[in-house]
Amino acid sequence: MSSPVITVMTAAVRKAARTLQRDYGELANLQVSQKAPGDYVTIADQKVDKILREELAKVRPGYAFLTEETGVVAGTDPDHRFIIDPIDGTMNFMHAVPFFAITVALERKGELVAALTYNPITDEMYSAEKGGGAFLNNKRIRVAQRRDIHDTLVSYEVPHRGGKDLPLSRAEISVLQARVVGIRGTGSAALSLAYVAAGRFDAMVCRNIKPWDMAAGILLVREAGGFVADPDGEKNPMETGNILATNADLLPHFKDALSKAREQ
Ligand code: IPD
Repeated sequence: MSSPVITVMTAAVRKAARTLQRDYGELANLQVSQKAPGDYVTIADQKVDKILREELAKVRPGYAFLTEETGVVAGTDPDHRFIIDPIDGTMNFMHAVPFFAITVALERKGELVAALTYNPITDEMYSAEKGGGAFLNNKRIRVAQRRDIHDTLVSYEVPHRGGKDLPLSRAEISVLQARVVGIRGTGSAALSLAYVAAGRFDAMVCRNIKPWDMAAGILLVREAGGFVADPDGEKNPMETGNILATNADLLPHFKDALSKAREQ
């Protein structure tokens, strides 16, 4: 059974998802008719952001927000903050590629305590609460148990054209490609983290993203028995914007691969 906070977060996310499902249908038509999808995306982002903030504020008044669309919204409760990305994987959404998510995390006194990541097209709801495990549509999930890096499937986020750290990313892809079975660039860091939690990907690496892209995913991975780390050292990925997520056995092997790439 879901806890009260997961229940209210789920209700808000499902309500916001209905508008996204409608807009996705419109976008899919737009792709066919070759019109510009940009307006739908902006409006969809803002609508989802607004619904989530309104619905969550009704049931948890006073909590602060940090969202991709509105930035910091101060609350009267100093201990609680929702971190929201209304659409993580915006480029995929724009192109009617069904790999994007609404992602919401709750922090208490600076610690991640509840998380939801929802793909409204596949109807996959990933949820986690600190100490309570991670779930996909209410079924317990766990990170993959592979121990040999040579057997792994990895999500690596390729930077956009002109993005930061392009030479480093090329070096990382090159080193990883020599060690893992396969690499996937998904376009949604939040969903890639959920896939690590579900044992679909053995690892994910992503650079230069924001706290709202990774907050829910971090808790999902931890509660599924996995680890998240900064790929370059001991810092907090929420602060550096760079994240590596995998299981305990593979963590040193991925860290080693990524450090070799930095030396190139
Ligand atoms: C993006 C996704 C993507 C990452 C980009 C982010 P958005 O978030 O997380 O995986 O590679 O850097 O901007 O913009 O779709 O919310």
